[in-house]
Formats: sequence, C-alpha cells, structure tokens
Amino acid sequence: MDLISRRSLLVLAGAGAAGAAINWLLPGSAQSALGAGPALPIPALIEARDGQPVTLALQTGRHSFGVGPEVATTGISSGYLGPVVRVRSGDTIPFRVENRLAEESTLHWHGMLIPSSVDGGPHNSIRAGGVWQPALAVRQPAATLWFHPHPHGRTGRQVYSGMAGMMIVTDGADRDLGLPNTYGVDDLPLVLQDKRFARDGQLVYAADMMTLMDGMRGDTLLVNGVAGPTARVPAGFVRLRVLNAANARNFDLRFSDGRPFYVIGGDAGLLPAPVELTGLVMAPAERYEILVDFTNRKPVDLLTGADQHSGGMMGMMGGGSAAGPLLRFQPDAALPVAVARLPRVLVASAAPDAKSAVTRRKFTLDPVMGPGMMGGRPVSSESGLPQVLSINGRPFGMDRVDATAKLGTSEIWEIVASDMAHPFHMHGVSFRILTKDGAAPPAQEAGWKDVVLVQKRAELLVNFTQPAASHQPFMFHCHILEHEDQGMMGQFAVV
Ligand code: C2O
Ligand code: CU
Ligand code: CU
Repeated sequence: MDLISRRSLLVLAGAGAAGAAINWLLPGSAQSALGAGPALPIPALIEARDGQPVTLALQTGRHSFGVGPEVATTGISSGYLGPVVRVRSGDTIPFRVENRLAEESTLHWHGMLIPSSVDGGPHNSIRAGGVWQPALAVRQPAATLWFHPHPHGRTGRQVYSGMAGMMIVTDGADRDLGLPNTYGVDDLPLVLQDKRFARDGQLVYAADMMTLMDGMRGDTLLVNGVAGPTARVPAGFVRLRVLNAANARNFDLRFSDGRPFYVIGGDAGLLPAPVELTGLVMAPAERYEILVDFTNRKPVDLLTGADQHSGGMMGMMGGGSAAGPLLRFQPDAALPVAVARLPRVLVASAAPDAKSAVTRRKFTLDPVMGPGMMGGRPVSSESGLPQVLSINGRPFGMDRVDATAKLGTSEIWEIVASDMAHPFHMHGVSFRILTKDGAAPPAQEAGWKDVVLVQKRAELLVNFTQPAASHQPFMFHCHILEHEDQGMMGQFAVV
C-alpha cells in the first residue's frame, strides 16, 4: 500500500488525519464499537489534482470477506477492490497503471467521457509486469463512475477475483446544491457484489456452461468486500453512492422498515430533482446516488430482493440469486449532521430530442444461431471460452468494427433482448433512454446513463462526443461479464 504517492492521497478521517495508511479505512472512531457484524469498510480516498500523477496497481492479494478465512484475491492497490478516486471536472490526471499480475490485463474507466486511446478497453492491453500511462482529461458533470479490468475474454474472472474501484467526478456543484459530500461520513461508497465460496473458503469462479450462460452469481452478498457490515451514520440525510459491481446479478434494493429514499443521480450525472422510491432495481454496472433520512435515529437494514431477471433458457436451472440483508445502518447522534433537509431542485436537464438523431441502428443481443452450434462450439483462441453469444448474430471480433458514428452527432440505438434481460453498456458515451419496452423510462432512469437493463427492447439517444479511431474502437456490450466474455460485445468507431 505504498504504491500511491502520498502527495496525491488524502485520508479523510473526519478529524482530518493526514495519515499514510491507504488500505481500507475506518473513518475516525465512527465505524468502531458496532453491534451486529463488522464495520462497513470505507475504501481509501485518493483526491486527484490537476497534473499530479495517480498510481493504481493491479495486484494479487489476500482478503477476509467476513465469512471464512482469508483467501487469495486480487485488488487495485489493495488486497481486494480498490481505492475511491475523486477527480474534478476540468482537471487532467496523469494515471500510471501498473500490471503486477502474471497475466495480461487492462484498466477501463467505466463512464468516463474520454477518447478511446485512453479508455482502457481490450485494445489498451497491459502485458504482465507492464505499465500504462493514460492522461485523463475530466470534462463531464458530477457523477459516480468506476474502473475495472477489461482484457479480451478474461474480464469476468478478473473482476470477480477483486479488481474494481469507484471514481467520483465532482464539478463543484455538490455543496451548492446542499448534498452531503463528506466522504466516509455522510457520503458513502457502497460497492455491491455477490460471491460463491468453496468449502475451504476460496472464491469459486465456475467455468461450466450453465454458469457461463446465466452469468456468475453467488449466494453471499457483500458490501465493500464484506458480508453483513454495519455503517454508523449521522442522524440526518446521508448520500449513498451505490455501485452494482456484481458480474451478473441484479439487486432489488429496499429498506427493512419500508422507508422511502430519494434517488438523486444515475450512471452519468445528477437528476433534475430527487425521485422518491421505496424499491430500486440495479443492473450490473449501474450506479445510483440516493439520499436516505436517518433523522429518526432508528437502525435499519438495506435489503435486496431476489433477482427477478435471472436466467433465460439456462438460468432457470442455475438459480442462486439470493434475497437478503446487505448492510445495517446505525444512526449515531454523536456524528455531525450536515444535511437535514432534502434538496428540491438538482440540475437542469433538457428533455431528449429524438429528432436530433442522424441515424437509427438496431442491435439484437442473442445466442448464436445456425449451423455449427450443435456440434463444436466456436472457441475464442484468446479467451478459451466458447463464443456462443452474439450481437446481431456475430460474436465479438477484435478486428471487426460493427458501427461507425460521426463525431459530434447523435443516433438512436435500438437494443433488443431476445432470451433474457441483458444490461447493455456503451463506452465513451452517455445516452438518454427514450423508451423501455415501449414506454417512457421511470424517472430514476430518465437522466444521462451508460447502462440500461434491456428486458425486451430499449431505444437510446446516444451522444457521440469522444473520438475512437477504427483501429482502436469503443466497446458496446452486455455487462453480464460472462456474456461479454463469450461474445456478446461489439465495437464502434467515432470519427
Ligand atoms: Cu464496465 Cu466495457 O465496461
Ligand atoms: Cu465501460
Ligand atoms: Cu447478457
């Protein structure tokens, strides 16, 4: 954990201890002395500053999930998961990504609006022991993003073993809007995952066909890498930055006492106004920022229902997307309340203008059909995985560009899911959902996004603002990582 230059690191411990520890933090005394379960681990915060290098290392490690022994994992500058990197819009951050693994990898900045040359997709490969130094010019509204490996054919296994981290973009508006923004106190990152463990406690990443078709799911629910944690929170409004970093499962969030909560932001930015809900479905790779009111000082659990979208043909038999508690909140009157009132207005946002689209394209997410399927399945030489999933009938091809958009234009992309719900994602763009299964999207999905759970059919208005040369295109894919690895991914250039 000496990997990150101390200059670029701020450890926020409430009282402002400028300590040097950069692994998981328990901010102040706030997270100690708990009733049930371990304290919610809060990832170290890296405050990136214009022009100052930030190092992130892909590495192996060991981690205790709070169930069973310490086991072999991977992480990003950490034994498991990674730090939270906070960047300011307008700054340019020179990153240094060290691949300390024994295999090739990449680091993709999911949700960042940056050119494909620094996007970290499969074309930005970092060999084992290698270093990659992309400079990221941050030019986008405040949002909760993340980063994870994206090597061709091996994304599922690498992310599952532990490599993922959160990136927070700030644009200065947060404080003005009256939103909680004291990291680790009333502004908490929540990285949701599910895992399966073997009898000896090791992580299981099954490679059987049924698991691959349904996506890797587990029976143990984790928040920030531990099972069943408790978070002490101020007895006011708290902002939760929730990331679904699971390989395949959807979370169906609600509170144990049924209390309402308020969605203030989606994948790519804040909403015009808070959206009051009592339940929220989150697909893999989606982010939501929510405000929760703990003024009544009562402890409450955040729960997930079972995954209603698990499985198509194969998934029915796979099962295993458990319902259950994710974490407990314990309000603590001793913690300072910064926000006691729900803001009414957030950011201005115009309605999407479908007439601005210059082209319409259709993409169907599908198993590969046709001759050859029943006999030998085509196997990718890079990944060793069968390439049985496709978009428009064609499994991913590293050397094939599937669409070319014109820089500075908008297009309507119609996404069709034929067999099961797929979380569809695009690199290097933000989009608005025009319709989902024929209807306007619910309010929490009406803002700028980069992931959409497609049950049957969705129409997206996509803005192409970032360049991608045809030799280094952007990806579009299903974010069930086993689907992506098996070929449900395509490439687009923006020129
Ligand atoms: Cu979250 Cu193509 O990635
Ligand atoms: Cu992405
Ligand atoms: Cu899928």
